[in-house]
Amino acid sequence: MPAIIVVGAQWGDEGKGRVVDDLARQAHLVARYNGGDNAGHTVVAQGHVLRLHLVPSGILHPHTVCLIGAGVVVNPVQLAKELDELAALGIDVGPERVKLSAAAHIILPTHRALDGAREAARGREAIGTTRRGIGPVYADKAARVGLRAGQMMDVEAFGQRVAELVRSHNRLLQEHYGLEPVPVEETVQEHVALAQRLRPYVADVSEVVAEALAAGKTLLCEGAQGTLLDLDHGTYPFVTSSSCVAGGALAGLGFGPGHVARVIGVSKAYTTRVGAGPFPTELTDEVGVRIREAGGEYGTTTGRPRRCGWLDLPILRYAVQLNGLTELALTKLDVLTGIHPLRVAVAYEREGQRTERFPGEYGAEELVRWRPVYEELPGWEEDIRSARRWEDLPPQAQAYVRRIEEAIGIPITLIGVGPGREETVRR
Ligand code: IMP
Repeated sequence: MPAIIVVGAQWGDEGKGRVVDDLARQAHLVARYNGGDNAGHTVVAQGHVLRLHLVPSGILHPHTVCLIGAGVVVNPVQLAKELDELAALGIDVGPERVKLSAAAHIILPTHRALDGAREAARGREAIGTTRRGIGPVYADKAARVGLRAGQMMDVEAFGQRVAELVRSHNRLLQEHYGLEPVPVEETVQEHVALAQRLRPYVADVSEVVAEALAAGKTLLCEGAQGTLLDLDHGTYPFVTSSSCVAGGALAGLGFGPGHVARVIGVSKAYTTRVGAGPFPTELTDEVGVRIREAGGEYGTTTGRPRRCGWLDLPILRYAVQLNGLTELALTKLDVLTGIHPLRVAVAYEREGQRTERFPGEYGAEELVRWRPVYEELPGWEEDIRSARRWEDLPPQAQAYVRRIEEAIGIPITLIGVGPGREETVRR
C-alpha cells in the first residue's frame, strides 16, 4: 500500500536521516532513490559512530529490507566498505536485507578523477562538488555509455567493460586535462573482485518494490541532497546531477504516484549550503559563525564548513510545490536559542518588483539579481532541548514555528530540539 517519501526542502543536510530513522520503525522497506556517496549521514550503532553514504539508514532497524534503486550511482569500493563496517558490528547485511538495483550505475575511479579535473578547470566558477564522480557518472548514464550493477553478473564481461571505460576516461584525463591516467589493469582487477563480492546483492529492485506495495507493506523512500540541488529545479548549475525531488523517488525506484501516501519535507530552522552558488539569506557575520558552531555545521562527506543563513520561506514554499509536500519536519530549532531578533525571508525584491515566489527555476544567474525581504521575529533565551510537548516551547519559539506554517500552508509535524533521537517535539 503506502509509500512515504522523505525529501530535503533546502540545499541538503536538513537532517533527513533522523526523520527516516524515526519512520523506519514502521517501514518494511527503506530505499535510496538518487545520488551516490556524495550524501552522508552519521549513525550511532552499538556505541560506534558510523558514516553511511550509500546503505540506507534503515539498516539499523533489523526488520527492514534496504534497497538501492536504479536512480542511485554506486561506488562499489564504498558500498563494500560500508557493508564490512556494518557486518563487523554484528548487523545483518546479507543479500536478503540489502538489494542493489541491476540498473544502478557504477562509479569508477576515473569518474572521480574527471570530477576533480572538471572542478579544477572551472577555477573560480567551480561548483564545489564532493568530487565523488557524481556528475561524470550521470553524464555517462545519460550518454548511454555507463556501466550498470547488473553487468557484474558476468564478471569477465564486466572486467572488459571496466577496461574500455577507464581507457576512454583516461584519454580525456590525459589529452584534455593533461593529467596522469588511472592504471587500467589494477582498476580492472579491483573491480572484478568487487563484482564477485557484490554480485549476490544485485536484484530487480522495482519488482521487490512492486511486490511489497501489492502486499500492503510500507516503503520509505530516503531522498539524498535537497530540492535546491535538484538537477532540473535547483539553482543550476550549482546543483547535483540527480533528481532529488519527490518525483525522483518514483523514477529512481520504479513505482507509480498512486502509491504515495505522504511526502515529508525536512528543513532546518535556518538555512545551510555547502559548495558554491547563490545563497540569498547567507550570513557572513558573527551570527552565521554562531549558527555554524552551535549547529555543528560541517559536511559529513567532505568535512567542509557549511555556509549558514536565515530561514527562507519562499524556498520552503517552492519545496512544498515541487514535491507535493504533505507535512514538514523542522530540525535544529535549538540552534537558534539566544539569537534575537530572528529574521526570516518572506519574499524577494528586485528593482521595485516584489515576488513571494522563489526565483529558482531561472537558475543561479537570475537568482543573484533578487534580494530577500526579511521579517523580524523575537527570539528566546530558554534552553529548549528538554521540550517534548508543544506546550514546553517558549511562546516565541511557538510563534516562529507558526509563522513558518502560515507561510507554507502545511503542518509542521516534528520539531527537532537537539541532536538526540528523543530530543523531538511531535505534533
Ligand atoms: P556533487 O553532488 O558532488 O556533484 O556536488 C554538487 C553540489 O551538491 C555541491 O554544491 C555539493 O556540495 C552539493 N552536495 C552534494 N551532496 C550533498 C549532500 O549530501 N549534502 C549537501 N550538499 C551536497
